[in-house]
Amino acid sequence: MTPQQEKIRALLARKNAILLAHYYVRPEIQEIADVLGDSLALAQAAARTDAAVIVFAGVHFMAQSAAMLSPQKTVLLPRADAGCPLADMATAESVRNMRQREPDALFVTYINSTAEVKAESDVCCTSSNAINIIRSVPSSRKIVLLPDGNLARHVASATGREVIAWEGCCPIHQALTGEDVLARKREHPGAPFVAHPECRPDVLALADFIGSTSAILQFARENAAEKIIIGTEEGIFTQLKKQNPGKTFILASPGLLCADMKKITLDDIEQSLLTLQPVITVPPEVSEAARKTLDRMLASS
Ligand code: 13P
Repeated sequence: MTPQQEKIRALLARKNAILLAHYYVRPEIQEIADVLGDSLALAQAAARTDAAVIVFAGVHFMAQSAAMLSPQKTVLLPRADAGCPLADMATAESVRNMRQREPDALFVTYINSTAEVKAESDVCCTSSNAINIIRSVPSSRKIVLLPDGNLARHVASATGREVIAWEGCCPIHQALTGEDVLARKREHPGAPFVAHPECRPDVLALADFIGSTSAILQFARENAAEKIIIGTEEGIFTQLKKQNPGKTFILASPGLLCADMKKITLDDIEQSLLTLQPVITVPPEVSEAARKTLDRMLASS
């Protein structure tokens, strides 16, 4: 550990704090996290921790979810402006309007959404449990999945269910094209291509495996291939390389880089622990309804 990493670990201990980090954040943060995981694992960790303070190295909706799951804890997002463009593609008002058009539908909301949108929904999902959540819905029930249209189309084709897709997307995954993937496949013949379900349908059609960040890591550990083409944000390379020192990983496009996920630095975490700011809170009237959607998801995961 560097002196700064050691200092942060000491501050975490002194403040009775836990550091949660997503696979997309900077490597030097992943190295010192108490829990490193995908969106589901981090929500589960936030719900069960005994620590007084949760420092979230991720983006705003993740810290908001932690604040709702652990309302008695102080939740810090060291850069309050680390957002998620996908989460901003649905508003509470737009969901209420959709409900009027689809009054009988079950509204399944991807965790990459604001607390206000969750509060208008029935149940949350992440990329690792979306298929199981959809399968648990009675077949007679209509389903709306928001705000990620690519995820909605993917779970519809994986489950054979009709899923009404909201037309939002992660701009980072959306920018990856089928031509990019075909070019990488030509350059690396025989290498399997793995993709996150936020990718476009033409990209997913070329994938040998589709899954969340933790599922992609598992695939890389278990698959015999020596070389794998990766269709998700480049932060995952930290663990891919650490867990598979003998294998080669190829990023499907240099555009797979999320500036928001890279905003938080070690300096920000140190400062945040010293000042116990910026605190992320959710108004109680929003949190009450939104938390139920998270609780339903965690109960079925
Ligand atoms: P997972 O953490 O579920 O893999 O999804 C990450 C994400 O937010 C993709 O943009």
